[in-house]
Amino acid sequence: MGVTSTAPHLLRAARGEIVDRPPVWMMRQAGRYMKAYRDLREKYPSFRDRSEIPEVAIEVSLQPWKAFQPDGVILFSDIVTPLPGLGIEMDIAEGKGPIIHAPIRTQAQIEQLRPLEPEAALPFIKTILQALRQEVGNQSTVLGFVGAPWTLAAYAVEGKGSKTYSIIKNLAFSEPAILHQLLTKLADAIAIYARYQIDSGAQVVQMFDSWAGQLSPQDYDTFALPYQQRVFQQIKQTHPDTPLILLVSGSAGVLERMGQSGADIVTVDWTVDMADARARLGKQMKVQGNLDPGVLYASKQFIRDRIIDTVRKAGNWGHILNLGHGVLPDTPEENVAFFFETAKQLNVLV
Ligand code: CP3
Repeated sequence: MGVTSTAPHLLRAARGEIVDRPPVWMMRQAGRYMKAYRDLREKYPSFRDRSEIPEVAIEVSLQPWKAFQPDGVILFSDIVTPLPGLGIEMDIAEGKGPIIHAPIRTQAQIEQLRPLEPEAALPFIKTILQALRQEVGNQSTVLGFVGAPWTLAAYAVEGKGSKTYSIIKNLAFSEPAILHQLLTKLADAIAIYARYQIDSGAQVVQMFDSWAGQLSPQDYDTFALPYQQRVFQQIKQTHPDTPLILLVSGSAGVLERMGQSGADIVTVDWTVDMADARARLGKQMKVQGNLDPGVLYASKQFIRDRIIDTVRKAGNWGHILNLGHGVLPDTPEENVAFFFETAKQLNVLV
């Protein structure tokens, strides 16, 4: 078999094959810490333009690929991108994040939501993913991503990011039936969207339930976990071979529960020691993570030591090396380059 017929490194590890070093990519690897991104942002000041005009989104997605050759190339987009396709109009404001024009708070609004028709609503996603696959070939793995029902509901109901999640928690604890209706509709739309990404070229899909760590474990079991399961089950029905990753931010208290979601790979953040995460999740579960993004402010020696520590604790099977969450916008680009170089030499170093 020639080299070109071999599946890319990250995909092989995600499927559970033994590989010579953990594959590596970074959440938010395309974005503000890169000068090339900031330059392009001058030309295209609107986030929706940057992520929805195919040529621009393709270029942004490929900026980290060209600079660092990560083992994963993630689609440049946002978790709220599919919402207009359901009838939830939104924008993404500089420095603030998603803004929902008419927050969803009543049953009547939920009843009016449309089922997602991805070919019609999100044609640019297909163009972008096809181009990324074409560009990276077997040298890297193309990742798609979606937001999870609870996290997308948090944006839809709150209308923007929140520190307290007061409005959605009020709804959850006072009128749960209404929220369950919204979560069900979002789950079905997200599954359709993820399938469309896979059909368009995504080889692995990560679901971000970023704000599920804001729930108590018992509420996570009611409002987050069943809908994560609903999405993953629906994707697996039609696409059983595509590895699925779950991320929850601030996940230490719900790590075992994340393992029950149906994900193949659980992202671990830096509030959990990687050795403890392995013990808590069991030998069968694959993991991703988990350096503190702040480590990339430090010296090269410090960065190297933390990488080696993480990789030793994760062991030599079922680990995708990553940060525990997105790279921070003021991270020195040089340190990102060093992170990738070091990671790619690990079969020599560890
Ligand atoms: O990883 C990647 O390179 C893909 C890019 C990506 C973006 N958003 C681009 C983006 C991904 C995976 C997302 C997902 C996303 N969006 C999440 C889940 C990930 C996480 O952080 O937990 C969430 C919660 C959002 C909502 C959102 N969109 C926020 C909180 C922000 C940041 C607001 C800010 O300015 O600090 C956005 C905007 C956004 N999405 C940016 C990027 C690179 C920053 C704006 C910019 O660069 O112009």
